[in-house]
Amino acid sequence: MELTKEQQQILDGAKGETMAKIMQTLVMYGETFGATKMVPVTGEMGHLVTSFGLGVMKPVYELMDKLIADGAVSGQKFTVDPKPLDKNVPSDFLKNLVFRKFMYSAQDSYDAQLEQLGLADKDGYTCACYFDQVGNKPKKGDVLSWAESSAVVYANSVLGARCNRNSGIIELFGSIVGYVPYFGLLTDEGRKAAWVVEVKTSAVPEAQILGSAIGMKVMEDVPYIKGLSEFLGRELDEKTCAYLKDFGAATASNGAVGLYHVEGLTPEAREQGEDLIAPNARTYVIDDAELARVKASYPVMWKNPEASPKLCFVGCPHLSLEQLKDWTEQVSRGLKDRGLSKVAVPTVFTTAPAVMKEFQKLPQAKTLEETGVVLSYICPLMYMNNPLAGKMPVITNSNKLRTYTTARYYTSAEILDIITGGGRK
Ligand code: F3S
Repeated sequence: MELTKEQQQILDGAKGETMAKIMQTLVMYGETFGATKMVPVTGEMGHLVTSFGLGVMKPVYELMDKLIADGAVSGQKFTVDPKPLDKNVPSDFLKNLVFRKFMYSAQDSYDAQLEQLGLADKDGYTCACYFDQVGNKPKKGDVLSWAESSAVVYANSVLGARCNRNSGIIELFGSIVGYVPYFGLLTDEGRKAAWVVEVKTSAVPEAQILGSAIGMKVMEDVPYIKGLSEFLGRELDEKTCAYLKDFGAATASNGAVGLYHVEGLTPEAREQGEDLIAPNARTYVIDDAELARVKASYPVMWKNPEASPKLCFVGCPHLSLEQLKDWTEQVSRGLKDRGLSKVAVPTVFTTAPAVMKEFQKLPQAKTLEETGVVLSYICPLMYMNNPLAGKMPVITNSNKLRTYTTARYYTSAEILDIITGGGRK
């Protein structure tokens, strides 16, 4: 790899041994992927994926201590993925004991380390850091050092920033040293589409199933999606961005997509059109039957598939303010229509702490409280990823949560029906 004079000096120890090791790690990481140079991180803020203080992650805490002691803190402020714990989320004595005493026993000390390393704000814990209320919204062309897959795919696709699907810690190293290796989605070539996806459905496709179908088909390749803007329009307004957020998270978790282009809608597709399609790109046609086939292929991981759901999560990735308002109105109306006052299944809506604060100023906050739905800032995946919660029959409209846990997937309309007393079909 060819380094600039300054990069070489850092590698040679001009900024200390720890910085040299960080640079060396990034150079080795880049060389593995054929990078020929390091480029500056130009995005204003970083974002870290590791938000949870799992007791067993001792080497991570030792590493953080070393970075802090040696002054190798992040050159840029950063936000972090959502926290794993919230006392408002329905739990029981045993789970609380396991969460606090065994699993996330290092949460408080880890939070303190994050603050010392450069956490932007105590409320900066969300995977949707690009929401206006949170303020970590990269500009088009910004080079980022992030790892959270749902945020990376959103930043690349909807905002036109440039970021690889890095791993945890590597993304922190990029923020500390201020450089990332130049390969993959940072390059023009790496942003070309190897797939053309033709959406030929009879109605707007469910974002999380469409994303899942595309993710499972193209895996880590870039898809160029035709036919979707006929349903979504050609403006990146709040509603469309929320759709693309949920769609993208599904492509990134059901496959490994880091960037997609939507014809006539996403920034690079608007500018370059079909020039973004690589020669010999393959074609994938998605119609109603294909979406139904994909949905039917999801395995049911519950011990008893006939069990009644004990918990429902909506908001993975975190809900936008508009989505939160919309869900509140729909749940409230659905309950009224059935003559009910409270949701039939304990339900948690998850969103960013900063969005929560805005929502709580609105009349809908009281309406939501009256329905019995709990509003939280946690990551449902962190809540579910243990044997106790894993045994619970949990339902969700998140394809990411379905993929990584035993939660069972339903469309948003089905979830609404179930939690407002319509039962499970
Ligand atoms: Fe966000 Fe956690 Fe889902 S990080 S995308 S809420 S798995």
